[in-house]
Amino acid sequence: MGKVFITRRIPSIGIERLQAHHQVDVWPGEDPPPREVLLDRVRGCSGILSILSDPIDSQIMDAAGEALRGIANFAVGYNNIDVSAAKARSVQVGNTPGVLTNATADIAVGLILAAGRCFGPAIHNVEKLQWRNWEPMRFLGQEFEGKTLGIIGMGRIGMAVAKRLHGGWDMRVLYTSRQPKPQVDQQLAASRVELGELLSQSDVVSIHCPLTAETRNLIGTDQLQRMKPHAVLVNTARGEVIDQAALAQALSERRIFAAGLDVTTPEPIAPGDPLRHCPQCLILPHIGSATEHARNQMASMAAENLIAAISGKPMPFGVGL
Ligand code: DGY
Repeated sequence: MGKVFITRRIPSIGIERLQAHHQVDVWPGEDPPPREVLLDRVRGCSGILSILSDPIDSQIMDAAGEALRGIANFAVGYNNIDVSAAKARSVQVGNTPGVLTNATADIAVGLILAAGRCFGPAIHNVEKLQWRNWEPMRFLGQEFEGKTLGIIGMGRIGMAVAKRLHGGWDMRVLYTSRQPKPQVDQQLAASRVELGELLSQSDVVSIHCPLTAETRNLIGTDQLQRMKPHAVLVNTARGEVIDQAALAQALSERRIFAAGLDVTTPEPIAPGDPLRHCPQCLILPHIGSATEHARNQMASMAAENLIAAISGKPMPFGVGL
């Protein structure tokens, strides 16, 4: 039996699965454990089950010590984990791919519609008792049928969004990806293009790439400049992919129509960030995977990852050491 630290309360299915094999310590707070607490609680652990906002670096791994066998992230993204430091210590790293694809794709589609059809200002209008009559010239949004969708990062989630919008709204699909995707091209009549072309041709741009050194601030002033003035930009990946100051500027100058963000940097978004008060920017508190189904599956997968790693087997959902 090893010791496992879980950095936040997760669905009980994952905790109970781990408790059947290991001694489990769950951080009970709503907020992340402070750094000193994290360093202390991981001491002697064979496994750490982390949340995407916990930075799991070499110091945390060293604090856990020699017993550490696996780090299982309760997320598909794992940019919070120093994978090379884990590799150097022969510690396996795992994530939860696949099970949150539909949940996240649905949120991306929701944000496209909500941002493009001015849900933010319209809801504000009702809440503030400003709805006086039917107004022919207010809350005029965009239509999407037959328009062009640009997917940045055609992985599982990008593909699920493209399927929904190609099938539902008959949108033409452009995408960027490191590798050609002949099956996607065939299935969705999609075309892989350079980022510049995608930005200048798309009416909707939806971000689905992982956060890496190459994708940090991928969308800044120059890229926003290339977009159409009626375009809608949506991000359900990681906040750091967009330069938020540049986005706030572009929205205030009406260089694009609207943005919908499920992710920001930092999270939560800073109180003084101009995007918080920008009517054309709709912000959600990172709820892409927030369905019971997805979160239960994520908990099970993370538990299975740790159980395997601690018993010396490869994680079933390892990120490849
Ligand atoms: C992930 O899994 O990476 C999402 O951002 C949260 O579920």
